[in-house]
Amino acid sequence: MAITFSVLLLLSISLLSALAQHDEFQFSGFNPGNGNSNSNVTLGGIAKVQNGGILRLTNETLRLIGHSFYPVPIRFKNSTDASVFSFSTAFAFAIVPQYPKLGGHGLAFTIANSSSLPEALPSQYLGLLNAKNIGNASNHLFAVEFDTVQDFEFGDINDNHVGIDLNNLASNKSVAAPINLKSGETIQVWIDFDSARKVLEVRLASSSAKPAKPILSYAVDLSPILLNEMYVGFSASTGLLASSHYLFGWNFKMNGVVKSLDLSSLPSLPKPKKRNYALLIAAPVSALFFLIAALATAGYLLYKIKTADVIEDWELVTGPHRFSYKELKYATRGFREKELLGQGGFGKVYRGVLPGTKEEIAVKRVSHESRQGLREFVAEIASIGRLRHRNLVRMQGWCRRRADLLLVYDYMPNGSLDKYLFSGDEATPLLPWPIRFRVIRSVAAALLYLHEEWESVGLHRDVKASNVLLDGELNGRLGDFGLARLYERGANPSTTRVVGTLGYLAPELTRTGKATTATDVFAFGALVLEVVCGRRPIEPKALPDELVLVDLVWEKWASGKWREAVDPRLVGEFDEDEVEVALRVGLMCSHPVPAGRPEMRDVVRFLEDGDPTGVPELPSPPPAGGGGSYEVGFEDFVHSYPSSSFEKVSWSPTLNPNGGRSDRTMAAQEESGPVVFFSAV
Ligand SMILES: *[C@@H]1O[C@H](CO)[C@@H](O)[C@H](O)[C@H]1NC(C)=O
Ligand SMILES: *[C@@H]1O[C@H](CO)[C@@H](O)[C@H](O)[C@H]1NC(C)=O
Ligand SMILES: *[C@@H]1O[C@H](CO)[C@@H](O)[C@H](O)[C@H]1NC(C)=O
Repeated sequence: MAITFSVLLLLSISLLSALAQHDEFQFSGFNPGNGNSNSNVTLGGIAKVQNGGILRLTNETLRLIGHSFYPVPIRFKNSTDASVFSFSTAFAFAIVPQYPKLGGHGLAFTIANSSSLPEALPSQYLGLLNAKNIGNASNHLFAVEFDTVQDFEFGDINDNHVGIDLNNLASNKSVAAPINLKSGETIQVWIDFDSARKVLEVRLASSSAKPAKPILSYAVDLSPILLNEMYVGFSASTGLLASSHYLFGWNFKMNGVVKSLDLSSLPSLPKPKKRNYALLIAAPVSALFFLIAALATAGYLLYKIKTADVIEDWELVTGPHRFSYKELKYATRGFREKELLGQGGFGKVYRGVLPGTKEEIAVKRVSHESRQGLREFVAEIASIGRLRHRNLVRMQGWCRRRADLLLVYDYMPNGSLDKYLFSGDEATPLLPWPIRFRVIRSVAAALLYLHEEWESVGLHRDVKASNVLLDGELNGRLGDFGLARLYERGANPSTTRVVGTLGYLAPELTRTGKATTATDVFAFGALVLEVVCGRRPIEPKALPDELVLVDLVWEKWASGKWREAVDPRLVGEFDEDEVEVALRVGLMCSHPVPAGRPEMRDVVRFLEDGDPTGVPELPSPPPAGGGGSYEVGFEDFVHSYPSSSFEKVSWSPTLNPNGGRSDRTMAAQEESGPVVFFSAV
């Protein structure tokens, strides 16, 4: 009897809940309601239903979250046997990035145990989770992310992908999206979970017709993730880059297959007004490769030292990992040309994948003729490897093989700043002003760290645009720290070379040969002007003479027309105060006399304040004609090598009283391409 009774009770409960169940709904556009009530959906964060029924989850302001859920929870499990139901949903969205082609961050279809997700963070957390609860089984979070930023922290495959996220933002499975998610066009998504087969499928199209083939199919048991009752909806976030995330329609059905949305009957965005710089912008930008387990390598060190390389005593430094040559050769597939990332002044850089951890690395191969030079550099590697700053590219380790030094760095998938400033190719986005200003600030922070905050005074010695790498959110990171040091000593130990890059070399460096914090500041000044003006420090091919950027800026500054010096490709879209601060700082740092230049501490303060009146009045400009910043010898050099605009030079400043060209020899260094040695005879 009791059994019959409880069965009856159960039946009636499930009957009741079935009656109360919201297991199907269709929205063609959304009802704005008034405020949060009477709307078809809940609105959290800055989500808003706009006139015309478009649900906007975020706008283009940085670090925002937008949430929107169906207002009542939905039953996902059979109350009799607790099995998960099948479900099916279709929705139409669009992502309109603030800067064409730079998305930030993405949106996710979400099944959660709350309709507010109060602890969630923006940026890479997509408004779903936070740094503490990532991966916890108690999250009960199911999401399908449409992510437009590549976060290496979560192992994202690229900056345009669809992923299935269970309690975590590291996707259980993800695929590259077959269409551009941040094109601003309306995209329809179908997500179907078949509880009998336990398979989840995701489809994507920019049309009303459901494709036959899913882009993503994932066998999964959702019963540990889903509770009996869950909220369904959407979450979106912005970070240091921002997009507006929009929804136009949404159908949902439990235990059945949902109807596709007819895109033509949905509200749509007004045709975007064309931005002036839209033309210049194209390919996607991806993200940064985050921290790699460094501690674990310490114990590994000794084990690794049994290789073909002959290890000398001085190489047994502690500190960063000493890789075996074999390991790096394998990682870069034998230093194949296909893995070549670039050819810097000091050597070639290869992309590699570490065999064990599958982590991506950048391997710089430097050749050096002097064993003494290598030895001194290796002595410094231990301390260089300890450098930790979010605006420095981390050195993970190194390896020596005969005269080659192999330096292993964190991989920076977005490449270097000079590419963004000068490549001119369609695939590289033009950097808008706010990002340029951020890059300037981040490089300043990195230099301040080296000069003042690190255990000993560090000098970079080769600050320039090609040594500034960009992470996923286009923050600047300074790379190649200290490498110039290696080249100060040539094969002949009695000479000292000056090493640097034309246009970034402080004038006193050419006389004394001694790098100081002031010579780093000078190079930073050249970099700042370069970023503001979008021109190289020296453009030999400019007519009629070569253009010396600092002279040009001084001229514009003195005549009160500094706005004319700003990169014309920004078409006037910049913050005047910030640009003025940057130009003032750039000119101050470019002062021909070291004592006239500010310290990095002051530079950082001026840039952080962003207030031009906070920067001291500039001294009067140096005499025109070469600006006093460049020695005659440089101009000789520039003229003597007109085919290239961006050369690294090194030469011995000693014993050259005549300064005549005949006193010098010039030789291209074999492996490092554009490196040119000028040495006194
Ligand atoms: C959305 O709200 C409007 C106005 O309250 C209502 O008429 C409509 O039925 C709602 N749609 C759904 C699917 O609940
Ligand atoms: C985005 O929304 C927030 C909050 O409503 C607002 O303060 C901000 O100005 C908006 N940003 C833009 C770019 O419209
Ligand atoms: C729930 O499970 C019971 C037993 O397996 C089954 O008879 C019933 O049809 C299920 N209910 C639904 C709504 O699927």
